[in-house]
Amino acid sequence: MLNAERASFDPATPRHVAIIMDGNGRWAKARHLPRAVGHKRGADAVSRTVRACHELGVSCLTLYAFSSENWKRPVDEVSDLMGLLRLYLVRELDDLHRNGVRVRFIGGRERLDGDIVHLITQAETRTASNAGLLLVIAVNYGGRAEIVAASRQLAEAAAAGRVDPACIDEAAFEACLETTGIPDPDLVIRTSGEKRISNFLLWQAAYAEFVFTDVLWPDFGKEHLEDAIAEFRLRERRYGARSGG
Ligand code: FPP
Repeated sequence: MLNAERASFDPATPRHVAIIMDGNGRWAKARHLPRAVGHKRGADAVSRTVRACHELGVSCLTLYAFSSENWKRPVDEVSDLMGLLRLYLVRELDDLHRNGVRVRFIGGRERLDGDIVHLITQAETRTASNAGLLLVIAVNYGGRAEIVAASRQLAEAAAAGRVDPACIDEAAFEACLETTGIPDPDLVIRTSGEKRISNFLLWQAAYAEFVFTDVLWPDFGKEHLEDAIAEFRLRERRYGARSGG
């Protein structure tokens, strides 16, 4: 987002909320249930949160569903998570579309199963002209890889003489990111008590407010989103300027 846009932004409700959904495993462990059940309940929390964003007037929601590091998990767990994503797209696309939600994915698609890539493309294409909530789902996403890819793209363009290196500024860099055209997150929420960014939206979250909650992701609901927004409203966003204007 450019400085002029930041200055005119109404701070009462975050325009863009981004969530690091964490704690599915601990939720299941506390109940002596398999981790898969925690993830399943996590997927239910996704549906609740999408609805809550719509109701609370948030215009963009980004969810960290699967990081580029999550491939290190056991094969069965990766398969459970991919299965839930598949199910979500199959079961919820009609509803999302009916409610005017525009769906977009960030993250590399090269390691995803062909049918999931097809579902993703279908969801993006079908909802492309919707004007309601923008739902961004990060799958096989890593912030560092995204920054490296943007740098490579600009370096190649410069080497080919298509871009003057002296003209590379923040706007030119942003145009090469996967999130191009999406406003930066105003509020980043991480559940489960962990206080890390974990390679999520590293460039985009430069001026975001962070709210960390102990709630485990499967328990997350509208009231927790409201609490996070209430905390956001108490923050003074200065973008590097001095307090008091
Ligand atoms: C972190 O919990 C959560 C994930 C790695 C995956 C999030 C995925 C979902 C909520 C379900 C599918 C998503 C969609 C969009 C339908 P964890 O396993 O790291 O929990 P732990 O830290 O307690 O072990």
